[in-house]
Amino acid sequence: MNQHTRPDVAPIAFIDLAAQRRRLGSKIDEAVARVLAHCQFVMGPEVRIFEADLAAFCGARQAISCASGTDALLLILMAKEIGPGDAVFCPAFTFCATAEMVVLAGATPVFVDVDEATFNLSARSLERAIATARRNGLRPKAVIPVDLFGLPADYDAIAPIVDAQRLFVIGDAAQAFGANYKGRRIGTLAPVTATSFFPAKPLGCYGDGGAILTDDEELAQRVKSLRVHGQGADKYDNVHVGLSARLDTIQAAVLIEKLKIFPDEIVARERSARRYANMLGNLAVVPRVPDGSTSVWAQYTIRLEAGRRDALASALKADGIPTAIYYVKPLHRQAAYRHFPIADGGAPVSERLADEVISLPMHAYLDEPTQDRIVGALHRALAR
Ligand SMILES: Cc1ncc(COP(=O)(O)O)c(C=O)c1O
Repeated sequence: MNQHTRPDVAPIAFIDLAAQRRRLGSKIDEAVARVLAHCQFVMGPEVRIFEADLAAFCGARQAISCASGTDALLLILMAKEIGPGDAVFCPAFTFCATAEMVVLAGATPVFVDVDEATFNLSARSLERAIATARRNGLRPKAVIPVDLFGLPADYDAIAPIVDAQRLFVIGDAAQAFGANYKGRRIGTLAPVTATSFFPAKPLGCYGDGGAILTDDEELAQRVKSLRVHGQGADKYDNVHVGLSARLDTIQAAVLIEKLKIFPDEIVARERSARRYANMLGNLAVVPRVPDGSTSVWAQYTIRLEAGRRDALASALKADGIPTAIYYVKPLHRQAAYRHFPIADGGAPVSERLADEVISLPMHAYLDEPTQDRIVGALHRALAR
């Protein structure tokens, strides 16, 4: 009997997009077929419908779709004319795109450490990073508090610093669309927010996609122009240097259908996260969601003592259970970013997390028997 025929070691999906596809039935096929019939592949009617649905879902006045979460960040930085000489504060423990777009815009990322309990931007380290930026002759301009693994950053904790330093806040909610913070949805927590619809994200499409969420009409108009080559009155009137960064109509059609089931999926993710916490709390450090916040659990990430993670990942792999490490190296240690400034005091928490975290399978279709199998394997592996 090989590995694929033994149910106890049959491979488990890390994120089960096929299960979601089964639930959606023929809806996606029909939605895509409608686009294939009308042939408006770029900026077709589904793009506007999806943008209206997205704005209604999160409560932002404007939702502007674009080609990816990475482009969403770049479009915002371009629209705000953030560039050379400007310091943009980014967590050291995030996906590279956060800082990458700052560099591409010509500004300087200054790395900030994260909070031990939430893995999100630390207000104390942000204060230190502002001092670092000034010492390096940079203008403190903006901060990008990433909502890591699905949990909103603590926007209130940084508000006094943001106000005192007149920083512009750009939410990077690539991992957290659908989450809440003190009764408000992601998309309304910062003057402008970028999100991603990469297939593995809580709300994902079938390729690349992203959006910008804001109440600021002027900013929205500028972003709309920048995503189509800086267009003015029409496509051949160029008033800015822009990008080609639109969301494909087919992706919008997919997202319209997926957004309809997203509230149910958020509930299912929360149920699985609670079960994990109940069953794993004695074995590892499990994620903690602060009062007043919800997470959409883009990742379910536990912490183990340094040195135990690789053996655990191998043991789980042998049982058909995939794991992932987000992030094995904090950004200030990456070859592409290590020459940029880092907050006074460094980023010791980010460095510790990089050695200790491991993410388990998490999605809206994780049934209880599968989750029990994952937890059972984890207990066995950690008892060794
Ligand atoms: C925190 C963060 N920011 C930005 C991005 C970029 O999004 P995309 O992959 O859609 O370009 C990602 C994607 O993984 C992300 O996790």
